Formats: sequence, C-alpha cells, structure tokens
Amino acid sequence: MNDTFQRKINYLRISVTDRCNLRCVYCMPEEGVDLTDHKEILSHEEIIRVIKSAVLTGIRKIRFTGGEPLVRRGITSLIERVNEISEIDDIALTTNGILLPKMAVGLKKAGLRRVNISLDTLSPEKFRRITRGGRLSEAWLGVETAREVGFDPVKINTVIIRGFNDNEIYDFARLTTKIPLNVRFIELMPIGVSDLGDGGGFVATAELTEMLQDRYGLVPEKVAGNGPAKSYRIPGAPGTIGFISPISNHFCASCNRLRLTAEGQLRPCLQSPQEIDMKTPLREGASTEELAQVIRFAISSKPEKHNMEQAGWAGNRRCMTQIGG
Ligand code: GTP
Ligand code: 5AD
Ligand code: SF4
Repeated sequence: MNDTFQRKINYLRISVTDRCNLRCVYCMPEEGVDLTDHKEILSHEEIIRVIKSAVLTGIRKIRFTGGEPLVRRGITSLIERVNEISEIDDIALTTNGILLPKMAVGLKKAGLRRVNISLDTLSPEKFRRITRGGRLSEAWLGVETAREVGFDPVKINTVIIRGFNDNEIYDFARLTTKIPLNVRFIELMPIGVSDLGDGGGFVATAELTEMLQDRYGLVPEKVAGNGPAKSYRIPGAPGTIGFISPISNHFCASCNRLRLTAEGQLRPCLQSPQEIDMKTPLREGASTEELAQVIRFAISSKPEKHNMEQAGWAGNRRCMTQIGG
C-alpha cells in the first residue's frame, strides 16, 4: 500500500530480539540495555501472524534484524516458515556475522537469500575496541562462510566514524578488488548512544566518494537490494562499493519500509519515537484482517522524513539494538 506521501511500502524489517553477542559503542551503552522479558517478546507464531497480515497490505520483503537476530532461538525454523509464505519474495538478515560459521548452512537451506554483515574495521585491535571485546577473526569467518554457502550478494555494512576508521576506506575498497563483496559505507546517524563525542565522528559520503573517485575512478553499478544504497564498482573488481547517506542525502522520499520491534510495536520511521501497538491486538485474538488494519494505520502514519540533523544526539536515546537499524 502507499502511504500519505505516495511511497509504496513493501518492506518490513523485523527485530527478533534486543539481545546481542557484541556491545558496539555506538549501538549500546557499556552497561548494556535493560533486556526485555521473554514474555514481552513476540513468539514465532505471533511473528508469522504479523507477516501474514502484512502481506495483505502489500509487504513482499522481509529483513530480520536485532539486536543480533542469530541469537534468537529457533530463527532458522522461523525463516523456514516465512519461506513458505508464497507472497514474500525476499528474505534477508542483518547480522554481525559471529554465528554464521555455525548457522549459515541451515539458514541457506531454510530459504534465507542474503545477508548483510556489520563490520566497521579490518583491524583486530580496533574491532575489539568498537565491539567492546569482539574478535575480528570470528566475524571474518562469518563473512567467508556466507560466501561459501552461496548467499548472494554478501554485503558489508561499515559505519564510518572520523578518527576511528576513516583511514581504512582504501583497505575496505581494496577488498572489493579481491573478493565479490558489496562493501557499503554508512553515514553515522545520531541515534542511540554517542560514546563518540557530540557531533564528532560524522563523515559525509561526498568526502568518501571524492577520495575513492580520485584513486580508483568508480563506475555506477546495480546491486540487488531494497535499501537506499548507491553502488559503484572499481573497474574490473569482482566486488562493489555502496554508499548509504541518511544524513547528507536522506532517502526518505523513497522510503519503502516499516519496522516491527521485538516487543511487537510497529515503528513507522527509524527516527521517530512513534510506535503502534501490535502486540495487544495479537494477544487479544484479532483476526488477520484486523491486524492488517493496524499495519495500514502504521503505514499511513509514516512521517515525510526524519529530522536527525536538527534533533542531533539528544533527539533519540533509544538504542539501535532496540529498533533494529
Ligand atoms: P538491502 O535490502 O540489502 O538494501 O538492505 P538495507 O540496506 O535496507 O538494510 P541494512 O539492514 O543493511 O541497513 C543498512 C543501513 O542503512 C543501516 O546501517 C542503517 O543505518 C541504514 N538504514 C536502514 N534503514 C534505514 C531507514 O529506514 N532510515 C535510515 N535513515 N537509515 C536506514
Ligand atoms: N548510524 C548508522 N548506522 C548504524 N548502525 C547502528 N547504529 C548506527 C548509527 N548510529 C548500523 C549497524 C548495522 C545496521 C543495522 O545499522 O552498523 O549494520
Ligand atoms: Fe523512512 Fe524514516 Fe528511514 Fe527516512 S528515516 S528512510 S522516513 S524510516
């Protein structure tokens, strides 16, 4: 269905847990977040009911997010069930990759098409720092396994933070000349916690494209996906480079998405705190059509755009782990 700004909403991002096996500094405070009680988290059955009602409103693409979606028990069988819903034509997952070596084969068999893996640095020491203790070798094994089992494309999400990893962009770009990965540089959004200093850290896409253009002469490229990334290729490279610019060139005019939090709240916009309660009707026995009505209401509540530039870090204290990126 279209929202009030004539945008076609066909993409539902479902956060299946607020738990994570890492503690990235820009995503979570050091002490962690108050984890939601199991009873408050939607069950697999409830998630399937939401998806079936979302299909009635025109949703065709599902992405599972978290926290870390692979720590949710039974995620593989959940994906298998979603794969049986014939109207859904794309099932994807955004993960930190740590559990892929164990789980990728099963996920592929269950019908998962592709994965986006968050990886902000290629330095083991910096990886440990930004994830508060994670091991780069484990995440990298996840990337390799994703390729081996045939997820296609395999995308790498790299949030560029000035003074932290902005000196690694050539290293990330060079990766695409060796391996068929889609590396995406993402502008840091003022969402959640900023251990990185107010206003600090942000690097605009234009600065990166200029540096990479000068060195490599990027050519535009089409990469499968439902998101706002603009992609390029270094001539002759097997992989591609993408840019996601939520701040310098926000893509709200072509927004196609709705979010469902692990606790069963629909979020019309990543940035806005507005939530529409899906859990109560689900638990009070609403029919599929009644649930679809709640989703239609959420779609019609989508704001025209975010206002992160004005709101800044003070405007949104809810962590990414709770809304799923
Ligand atoms: P593809 O289907 O592979 O294109 O997925 P995607 O890019 O939509 O998904 P992913 O979860 O990998 O998101 C990539 C980045 O885009 C995330 O790091 C977010 O920072 C950002 N992002 C995702 N959705 C939104 C959104 O609705 N609004 C804004 N402003 N940023 C978003
Ligand atoms: N700004 C931009 N991207 C972010 N992510 C998490 N926090 C932020 C932020 N403040 C990214 C993660 C992950 C995706 C779901 O969201 O790197 O790849
Ligand atoms: Fe859509 Fe809100 Fe993201 Fe803009 S910030 S693209 S309106 S969800």
